[in-house]
Amino acid sequence: MSEKPLTARPEIEVRGLHKSFGDNEVLRGIDLEIEQGEVVCVIGPSGSGKSTLLRCVNLLEEPTKGQVFVGGTELTDPDVDIDAVRRRIGMVFQQFNLFPHLTVTENLTLPQRRVLKRDKATAAKVAAENLERVGLSEKANAYPASLSGGQQQRVAIARSLSMGPEVMLFDEPTSALDPELVGDVLGVMRMLANEGMTMMVVTHEMTFAREVADRVVFMDGGVVVEDGTPAQVIGDPAHERTRHFLSRLIDPAMAEVEEETSDQVGEND
Ligand SMILES: Nc1ncnc2c1ncn2[C@@H]1O[C@H](COP(=O)(O)OP(=O)(O)O)[C@@H](O)[C@H]1O
Ligand SMILES: [Mg+2]
Repeated sequence: MSEKPLTARPEIEVRGLHKSFGDNEVLRGIDLEIEQGEVVCVIGPSGSGKSTLLRCVNLLEEPTKGQVFVGGTELTDPDVDIDAVRRRIGMVFQQFNLFPHLTVTENLTLPQRRVLKRDKATAAKVAAENLERVGLSEKANAYPASLSGGQQQRVAIARSLSMGPEVMLFDEPTSALDPELVGDVLGVMRMLANEGMTMMVVTHEMTFAREVADRVVFMDGGVVVEDGTPAQVIGDPAHERTRHFLSRLIDPAMAEVEEETSDQVGEND
């Protein structure tokens, strides 16, 4: 494979990524490319390594082997200024991790001032702009405890956007929310996708994946099993493991029946 010129580089590039925790090899050779402006949803069963992959993409976990590039910069280069690269990567987790003793605005201005050294007025202006983007301007002076989970997650997204990231990583951002609050958070993510943000989203929201993702990646056992358009991977999966996973999501009751049946015939692995 020849080296591509720098300008044609994908925004996120993962090459031959392995990650072990002790004897447990969690990622077993991941290759992935995400172009600028692309939205890629990562799906797969619990324990398949989705979170570890995301955490390796911003070096919250150090890969055991392989390379990670973001915006053409190799994060896995030992000489890289990792703090500088990390500033270009926003991350949103299942848990919102807002400071409970700070107002919404203060939650958004604090990291800008600490990390980006922005002055108070600039940080406040950026905070206000991003609160407006997520539809929460009226909550600027509220404390997190007075907000719903969905509102807190939108604040967490606004906090991340206030740092001006080039790419956004989402790790099951709606999994901790009551079902009626999921839609607003997905709406904000859809807006970001439409604005051209490069996004990598671990999610179980198949409707979102179908409608918003350019590509869907199915992971199982620390490898990428399928990588294609939503129509391919969700609509017409090529692998039995993908079909099995999707059938459980679509009909959990059916999956239980299947499991009991396979227990009886001793096929469970
Ligand atoms: N910090 C860690 N230390 C040890 N094992 C870990 C750590 N993080 C994840 N693992 C293990 O890695 C595997 C994959 O976890 P994870 O990436 O969280 O999967 P997923 O997000 O797909 O559910 C699991 O077996 C988990 O126990
Ligand atoms: Mg996870």
